[in-house]
Amino acid sequence: MAGVKESPRARTLASANDLVRVRAPLPEDGESLSRLWKLLWDVHESWGSYPGSRDPDVYRELSLRLTEEARVRGPRPLSGRHVHLVAALVEEGNSRTIGQVEGWIDRHGIDPRTKWTCEVRSLVVSEDGRHVGAARALLDGLAGVARDALHGSPAVLAAEVLEDNPAMAFYRRVGFHTPAHSVRMRTDVARDVRPLCPARIAVPQDALPLAFLEGGLAERRRLARDDRFDRPRALDAAFVDAIATHLALASQRGTNDPAELIAVDGKNLPRASATLAFAALEPPFLPGVRAVLSRVSVDATTPPSAVVPGLVSLAGRLAKLAGAEHLEIVDLPPAATPLHDALVAVGAGPWSRVALRDV
Ligand SMILES: CC(C)(COP(=O)(O)OP(=O)(O)OC[C@H]1O[C@@H](n2cnc3c(N)ncnc32)[C@H](O)[C@@H]1OP(=O)(O)O)[C@@H](O)C(=O)NCCC(=O)NCCS
Repeated sequence: MAGVKESPRARTLASANDLVRVRAPLPEDGESLSRLWKLLWDVHESWGSYPGSRDPDVYRELSLRLTEEARVRGPRPLSGRHVHLVAALVEEGNSRTIGQVEGWIDRHGIDPRTKWTCEVRSLVVSEDGRHVGAARALLDGLAGVARDALHGSPAVLAAEVLEDNPAMAFYRRVGFHTPAHSVRMRTDVARDVRPLCPARIAVPQDALPLAFLEGGLAERRRLARDDRFDRPRALDAAFVDAIATHLALASQRGTNDPAELIAVDGKNLPRASATLAFAALEPPFLPGVRAVLSRVSVDATTPPSAVVPGLVSLAGRLAKLAGAEHLEIVDLPPAATPLHDALVAVGAGPWSRVALRDV
């Protein structure tokens, strides 16, 4: 991929802790990694996340896939944009795999000054391998691979942590802050919320007010020190044109395609916007659809409580049509802010936070 190149330093990553070694997965790690994934899925399910499969065949296939991937990847933790690292505990000359993490290197936005994001995925350490520094070493290893791959371009590690997960304290301990919050609600509850202002799918004529709303969103993210996104930009004709073109292309949307939603006032003027997108849940999750409402932005002169019900109700109807049981609403300010409170008032509950740290 352009801009991401692997460095030879990534081939052997020794942690600061003598007992823990961090390296790329080996083909013989397949079974231990599959067990770690099951552990991760089971604890997440216990905190209310999407259900994982109970079928042993699903985990046997996962083990074979991980073995094959390790064979293809060789000693390099980086493959394209994907990073995979394992932690091994070395005791009396014996080494056993106790943890793993994946990373996905990407860049949001179009501003070249925006930091790269290395999304932290599936960080897990076996119960009997905890508190010896394995997770810290895995994150440090991930940061090192990202730094080398990006030749030192500024980047952040970003992890989504469920509200009920005790790992939140771990992330704080190892230097992360949590600029973005999310809530979740059932789609049938969202669908039945009574709108105060109408909401609809945006059309190209909405491009100018959407560009203003985009500016408000960028400012909110900047104030929260969420470095994953572009900072606020000057409004110009090219930007408005780009939004209009994007909206025109989206006019042929199918049931599971993303949608730009807006809530309008009595004069049909957009006062709030949000983006609805869907993703398929893949094994080891049970099959299903994940619906995510992001980029919620409300005009500074409008109370969120006036426009949120309409946006949520429309998103709930579209998500229900797409087959989603839940609607996640992400990229929000913290609890006890007007936007967050307006979502809680229509039935959403705390769901997760994004934890960030510079690499
Ligand atoms: C969260 C998890 C990865 C931590 O792994 P670990 O290898 O035990 O963590 P480390 O030993 O590297 O801990 C680093 C520091 O965080 C602290 N810490 C670890 N887990 C903690 C917890 N649950 N609460 C508070 N602090 C914690 C450690 O005490 C250590 O502090 P120190 O600097 O004083 O030594 C592990 O508990 C786990 O796998 N949990 C289940 C899966 C999960 O939730 N993954 C995260 C998904 S977002």
